[in-house]
Amino acid sequence: MPSIGALLVSGLCLASLLGSVAAVPLPEDGAVDPDEAGRGPSCTVIKRKEWRELSNVQKKRYINAVKCLQDKPAIAKATIPNSVSRFDDFQGVHIQQTFSIHFVGHFLAWHRYYLAIYEKALREECNYKGAQPYWDWTLDADNLLASPLWDPVTGFGGNGVPAPADGSPFAVPGATGGGCISDGPFVDMRLHLGPGPSLAATSRCLRRSFSPWIAQTFSNAAKVNNTLAQQDFGWFSKVVEGETNFWNVGIHGGGHYSIGGEAGDLYASPGEPVFYLHHANLDRIYWQWQSMDLPARLSDISGPVGMFGPTTGPNVTLSFPIDMGPLAPSVTIQDLMDVEGNRTGTGVLCYTYR
Ligand SMILES: *[C@@H]1O[C@H](CO)[C@@H](O)[C@H](O)[C@H]1NC(C)=O
Ligand SMILES: *[C@@H]1O[C@H](CO)[C@@H](O)[C@H](O)[C@H]1NC(C)=O
Ligand SMILES: *[C@@H]1O[C@H](CO)[C@@H](O)[C@H](O)[C@H]1NC(C)=O
Repeated sequence: MPSIGALLVSGLCLASLLGSVAAVPLPEDGAVDPDEAGRGPSCTVIKRKEWRELSNVQKKRYINAVKCLQDKPAIAKATIPNSVSRFDDFQGVHIQQTFSIHFVGHFLAWHRYYLAIYEKALREECNYKGAQPYWDWTLDADNLLASPLWDPVTGFGGNGVPAPADGSPFAVPGATGGGCISDGPFVDMRLHLGPGPSLAATSRCLRRSFSPWIAQTFSNAAKVNNTLAQQDFGWFSKVVEGETNFWNVGIHGGGHYSIGGEAGDLYASPGEPVFYLHHANLDRIYWQWQSMDLPARLSDISGPVGMFGPTTGPNVTLSFPIDMGPLAPSVTIQDLMDVEGNRTGTGVLCYTYR
């Protein structure tokens, strides 16, 4: 009997193949646009692009697909009873697993798989033909507020309205908003889960609180370079996640806290649609780091099983299971080490950033 991993790989790769054939407007000579899709080592990869590389039509299609997921009924009600939509299903699983997927050795692998499942849902359930875009925040580090991501028509809308500081000792430095967003395609969006760990029924707006200071300090090219310069996975992953205080958050926290509001919520952050573009960029940097020494880095894995676990172990290994709850079958870290296909012999992914 084929393993679940093998079944999934054929599913994902087949989906990519069909999707890209249908998606790509075929040039006159009938060849597939090499910019959209290309041969991976074992499948036809789809190419994830920076938000600015998409045409306005492609941007609109992506946003519409996300809105489509927000309109599709939940499938995870058995374990997340107050999930209303397919979009909520993803947020709910992240809320449930928060304490087992951050500051652990499988942080990057878990989020890599989570994004691939989200991309698959956009493509298969919402007829989206492209790949998951990413947000290269280094392009905006010096002028966060001017980022094209916040365009009300061709982006995700802008800052939350100013809200009084709540006096929390955990307030993000330099935060400028805090309330509901006031424009863009998600202005009327309702969140049905969160904030924080709450899975109780609710109806909330999307909040943002841009922090130009966070973006400038943690989302810049020098920080990315320093992250890429780490010599083994254990250090790479630690530097990506940074510390748990706002003065040294790493590039992971940089993206989250520069948007703030929902995105700054450790549990409920996938309620922010830009979460997926931010994490795609982290995944891109992870793949870039792996690609610098693929033979070694397709199998380099370490880091604690338990949140903030001691460096004395136990550590995750390649056979460690990655659990997506009701979203998708479990796979192992090994199955997720190669984004471009099956160099590992068990790969389930099929996309690239190159
Ligand atoms: C980051 O590294 C790239 C490639 O090595 C280099 O071109 C760039 O100048 C570096 N940027 C910073 C800010 O260090
Ligand atoms: C766990 O991994 C870390 C690197 O992330 C390493 O420093 C440590 O020695 C490992 N611990 C064990 C018990 O292998
Ligand atoms: C992945 O590669 C292994 C080893 O080459 C092969 O046995 C397996 O069938 C491949 N899986 C898929 C889904 O292509």
